[in-house]
Amino acid sequence: MSTIRVAIAGATGYAGEELIRLLLQHPHVQLTCLAASAKWERPTSVAEVYPRFARQLDLPVEALDLGRLARAADAVFLALPHGTAMALVPSLLEAGKRVIDLSGDFRLRDPSLYPRWYRFTHAHPEWLGQDGLAYGLTEFHQEAIKKARLVANPGCYATSILLGVLPLFQAQLIEEGRFLVDAKSGLSGAGRKADTSLLFTEMTENLRAYKVNEHQHMPEVLQELERASETRPLMGFVPQVIPVSRGLISMIYAKTRATPDAIAAAYRSAYPEDRAPFVRVRPHGALPELRDVVGTNFCDVGFQLDPALGYVIVASALDNLTKGAAGQAIQNFNVMHGFPEAAGLR
Ligand SMILES: NC(=O)c1ccc[n+]([C@@H]2O[C@H](COP(=O)([O-])OP(=O)(O)OC[C@H]3O[C@@H](n4cnc5c(N)ncnc54)[C@H](OP(=O)(O)O)[C@@H]3O)[C@@H](O)[C@H]2O)c1
Repeated sequence: MSTIRVAIAGATGYAGEELIRLLLQHPHVQLTCLAASAKWERPTSVAEVYPRFARQLDLPVEALDLGRLARAADAVFLALPHGTAMALVPSLLEAGKRVIDLSGDFRLRDPSLYPRWYRFTHAHPEWLGQDGLAYGLTEFHQEAIKKARLVANPGCYATSILLGVLPLFQAQLIEEGRFLVDAKSGLSGAGRKADTSLLFTEMTENLRAYKVNEHQHMPEVLQELERASETRPLMGFVPQVIPVSRGLISMIYAKTRATPDAIAAAYRSAYPEDRAPFVRVRPHGALPELRDVVGTNFCDVGFQLDPALGYVIVASALDNLTKGAAGQAIQNFNVMHGFPEAAGLR
């Protein structure tokens, strides 16, 4: 099989670092360009930025230059802050590159949602919802991803919530399409930047809720549930940060009349092992834990049903930097290029 030349923009961030770590083990990838902001005008060895990559990768980190990215690579991973990728994508696509964008810039089909949820007006609304663009929830959009030139990689919370709840919506098991999510994420979810509220002294032995019902991952969850079912979903969302470096778990509470067997059957049908190698569903009553998924590309899903209460509790756990970001992006890269879905990810 062929080797693809790959560039990473945003290589000095947490998602970029995880992309480098995983792509170094990929049998069909040659890393050719690592880019970040203008502060890297003087190219600096990646081993100086991340000593863990010494003797593994001999490339400089350099200031992002579109022409250089396009010349150096056939496929580009964009691990940039929201609002930054938007301006770069059209030129890369025109140059014939395949692009996997880890930001939220191309996840929403309706451009009018961007000012409210991302605080910017979309510069390229003509790309949203187009045929060449796929929403990269790999387990549900394989065919679209195979044909895509641009994949919008889902958000980390959105991935865990959708993998937990989408099969139940497809099987119409959630009463009135309403559910609540209580989600906890490690601090790397906020990116590799200085922020007083995320200091060790602020966060150790602490838990903090933020953006309650205002988090930017909500509209992509609702969009995907609407696409997959007849219902108009309603969601309450309480994201929280906890003092771990990586890992994310969403607890989802929803009213149902379904039996444990019906719920297990919905998951079995959505995630057969040969078609969904990275979603592991636990037996009824066995809820997943962070330590089983951190450092892996797995999303572990479990559920508990209380028939007297009439609620199902779903727990969906993943590593925000792997299945929630770089790992899922590589899964999508593999599907786009016809490589085995798990290449570089086991
Ligand atoms: N962290 C997660 O768990 C996670 C999960 C899923 C998706 N994502 C998404 O992935 C993207 C990256 O997240 P992250 O957590 O890795 O962020 P991060 O740690 O803050 O890294 C951001 C990267 O972008 C670079 N950058 C910033 N502004 C730039 C510009 N104008 N031009 C070129 N490069 C620029 C930074 O380089 P410098 O070194 O030059 O500043 C850095 O390499 C975000 O859109 C985020 O929402 C993150």
